[in-house]
Amino acid sequence: MLISMVKYYAVCRLTQTLLETEEAITNRWCKTYYSLMGFFLIGYLIVFFSLIYDIPIVGELLTGIIFFFGAVFVFVGIALQTDMLSAIRENHERIVEQNEQLHQTEDVTIFALAYLAEIRDLETGKHLERTSQYVGVLVKNLVDSPKYSSYLTQKYICDIVKSAPLHDIGKVGIPDSILKKNGKLTAEEFEVIKQHCEYGANILKTAEQKLGFESFLRIAIQLVMSHHERWDGLGYPHGLKGDEIPLSARIMALADVYDALRSERCYKKSFSHEESCMIITREKGKQFDPDIVDAFLKTEKVFLEISNTLVD
Ligand SMILES: [Fe+2]
Repeated sequence: MLISMVKYYAVCRLTQTLLETEEAITNRWCKTYYSLMGFFLIGYLIVFFSLIYDIPIVGELLTGIIFFFGAVFVFVGIALQTDMLSAIRENHERIVEQNEQLHQTEDVTIFALAYLAEIRDLETGKHLERTSQYVGVLVKNLVDSPKYSSYLTQKYICDIVKSAPLHDIGKVGIPDSILKKNGKLTAEEFEVIKQHCEYGANILKTAEQKLGFESFLRIAIQLVMSHHERWDGLGYPHGLKGDEIPLSARIMALADVYDALRSERCYKKSFSHEESCMIITREKGKQFDPDIVDAFLKTEKVFLEISNTLVD
């Protein structure tokens, strides 16, 4: 009975802590149950001492009643604990559901934000969806490689896929006269376009400072800042080379270029999947990280499937 009481008390405290309320129904039950258990515990002690010292304090009938109801209360205690545990489970399920809804809201907000920037560039929302999916395909393929398996945690994969739609968010800072220009950009105009990396990273840095904890924005900032860097160091904005370029940006670079090659623009025709594969393979070790080109070549059929499914 003592063990049962201690266990019951522990479950009561846990329930109250997890449900974060002292007014929980368990609290009321806890007090009632304890009063009755205390009463029968005293009864047990009286019977125990009357047997030890052979004092005829209680008769056989009363002893039987005390033992019977004592046992009943132990079982009632077990039933109440089961109730409390199912209340905790229900609460946990509700929290999981709310979490899932929050994640979905976060994804939609990110997408809407990114779309605002893309729509000015005459891009479609499909470009964002496709590039996110290409990034997902590449990063999942790299997980199988021993070189990256320890680095690419499940959280990293989620964060990079979530960050991908934001890669060109800095275009909000580029004037329409340059962003929507029909025809070739001058050298000066191209210098302005290049600034979209830093604009985007700065927008996200400001948001990250407001959060006060480490979020997916850490990876998003790297990806946005460096997605136009090149493996050979000839990219922008900082001319980073090889492994100096964050992995997220190296992956985004290939996904973005594949999508650009496959899309028609006012200044160029769209390339076929085969032509795009050839161009990307030719840029292995020049524009792109060789490992990422290998991952692309292993998964190029999935790329083709995505581009055929998410058509503009
Ligand atoms: Fe870009």
